[in-house]
Amino acid sequence: MRAVVVPTPGGPESLVVTDLPDPHPGPDEVVLDVVASAVNRADTLQRMGFYPPPPGASDVLGLECSGRIRSIGEGVTGWSVGDEVCALLAGGGYAEQVVVPVGQLMPVPAGVALDQAAALPEVACTVWANVFMAAGLAPGGTFLVHGGAGGIGTFAIQLASALGARVFATAGSADKQELCVRLGAERAINYRDEDFVEVLRPVGGAEVILDNMGAAYLERNVQALATEGRLVIIGMQGGTRGELDIATLLTKRAAVIATSLRARPTTQKAAICAAVVEHVWPLVADGKIDAVVDAEFALDDVAAAHTLMESGTHTGKILLRV
Ligand SMILES: NC(=O)c1ccc[n+]([C@@H]2O[C@H](COP(=O)([O-])OP(=O)(O)OC[C@H]3O[C@@H](n4cnc5c(N)ncnc54)[C@H](OP(=O)(O)O)[C@@H]3O)[C@@H](O)[C@H]2O)c1
Repeated sequence: MRAVVVPTPGGPESLVVTDLPDPHPGPDEVVLDVVASAVNRADTLQRMGFYPPPPGASDVLGLECSGRIRSIGEGVTGWSVGDEVCALLAGGGYAEQVVVPVGQLMPVPAGVALDQAAALPEVACTVWANVFMAAGLAPGGTFLVHGGAGGIGTFAIQLASALGARVFATAGSADKQELCVRLGAERAINYRDEDFVEVLRPVGGAEVILDNMGAAYLERNVQALATEGRLVIIGMQGGTRGELDIATLLTKRAAVIATSLRARPTTQKAAICAAVVEHVWPLVADGKIDAVVDAEFALDDVAAAHTLMESGTHTGKILLRV
């Protein structure tokens, strides 16, 4: 099979399409013929040598894909060869074939094209696991998502607003602010010239914040939390080490949570995928929410796909057609 590897860490030019042996499914695994994958920020970090795959995961890049089941391992029930699926991966998606633990398979939501379904697993699982399972955002709750025009952000806005939350989002340009509002945000905040703490103050702060900036926003995120609010950090685009204002946290009886989806055990990933199929897929099938796809690239043009992500000019997801 053809697959994308990184023999020497570096820029997008270090991505190499090569031939690798076809994979075979172990117990409780299937192998997919991949139709499409999608680019995630973590892939760019892995390419640069900063984010090694977890133990046992493929060296091939790619945290999600869609495709058809090619072969089935011992003990797998409920799925058949030829089934069209999408999957959450610990790696291996930028390839013609990939091994998937059966719990990380999800059906393609009704009405979604098989290739476009590759844009759904990471955003749906990340947003559901963090905003709803970990932080418990409830209907009527106030939600702030940073980077509202990105892959995670576009999905988080739609899902939170479809489930009845009041949504606020940050974005870096007027066009991106408009997109956030079109997707369901009550107010989009330009992070370049507005202070999200001040915007959230009149509404009593955010009950849940989904943060991609880490250290750079830690102090202001705590300030922007409502009483008993929950800050969930999923990214470190603004640095890894920050100072936590424990006094404010304590007075607000607030919580700071940080998670990584990729590092979770397969049992947790399976529980998240099952919850996504139960709670999120019906909203996708009803046309209430969808993955926003900015651009599509062939596997051979994977370097251009990474260059686009690193330019920051994209909105939503970047697909790789395999
Ligand atoms: N922990 C996990 O399990 C997990 C899983 C998936 C993703 N993530 C993380 O989630 C983050 C978003 O991922 P993605 O796939 O959505 O990437 P993406 O599409 O590249 O989005 C990145 C976002 O960062 C925003 N941004 C840049 N500077 C900002 C600032 N100063 N303030 C607020 N926002 C800013 C960008 O906003 P503009 O475009 O408007 O400038 C953009 O929306 C990444 O950090 C990724 O690593 C974590």
